[in-house]
Amino acid sequence: MGRLMIVRGVRDLGVNRGATGSHAILCDDGKTYVVKFAGQAKAAVNEFVGQALAEAAGLPVPIASLVEVSADLVVGSSDMKYRGIAPGLHQGSEIVHDSFDLEVWRERSCHGGTELVNAGVLPGTICHDNWILTSDRDRADNHLVQYVDGGGMYLMVDFTHGFTGPYWTADSLEQASYLRALVPAHPLIADAVTGPASFQPTLEKIEALTDSQIEAVVRAIPRSWGLTDEEGGCLVDFLELRRGLLRSVLTENKSSFPNWAD
Ligand SMILES: Nc1ncnc2c1ncn2[C@@H]1O[C@H](COP(=O)(O)OP(=O)(O)OP(=O)(O)O)[C@@H](O)[C@H]1O
Ligand SMILES: [Mg+2]
Repeated sequence: MGRLMIVRGVRDLGVNRGATGSHAILCDDGKTYVVKFAGQAKAAVNEFVGQALAEAAGLPVPIASLVEVSADLVVGSSDMKYRGIAPGLHQGSEIVHDSFDLEVWRERSCHGGTELVNAGVLPGTICHDNWILTSDRDRADNHLVQYVDGGGMYLMVDFTHGFTGPYWTADSLEQASYLRALVPAHPLIADAVTGPASFQPTLEKIEALTDSQIEAVVRAIPRSWGLTDEEGGCLVDFLELRRGLLRSVLTENKSSFPNWAD
């Protein structure tokens, strides 16, 4: 699966809006990353795994990198200091320039008559969200559209609220493994589903992921993030079990998709 990049933070650009309290950090590759911190909550773990699996499923996501945050950067930020952020590796998502959330994009494209160049991937995001149980993909700001030549390029952002949320435990994950209700989808995404064929390309990729590929993603989570062996094992079990349930979960909930035709 994708290579693991590490960049070093050079300047903290401050805290972002949003409940998770990510920071924008300029790094030594000259790029800026939205950084979610490892610590007691599992925001960074969820981002790391969710992003890697979205990429493996062929879905468009911003480039991810581990970001090394120095003690100096922590001390220089009252927010990081107050939250007790540990110096070391955290999870970054490269800032997508010239991007808007899905509803802003829709509003603007209605006037400009522009299209999404990769509209075909939209239903696939529903496969991923119901695989890892992302609970807040109904929010427009968890979908980005970047202006590119000839239209908009869709990108999926924010995996923090996967896996039953950033406070998951081995128990909460195990209980959620068998859930057969769909997580909420944004109406514009649900509308893009027109039948079983809409899910097919992404479902095929998810179903073709082997146990060892899934295990490798979980094993690559930095040790310093404090995931226990038990939690790592539960995460693997959860992903492998739901990979097998996903197809039937989606089709038995076809009434959630207004444009579905068998
Ligand atoms: N790589 C990125 N490039 C540009 N914008 C981004 C990127 N990642 C996230 N954002 C924007 O920043 C906002 C906050 O990010 P994100 O949703 O990942 O964090 P969050 O703290 O979980 O927010 P919330 O808890 O409110 O959902 C997002 O709503 C999104 O619009
Ligand atoms: Mg969000």
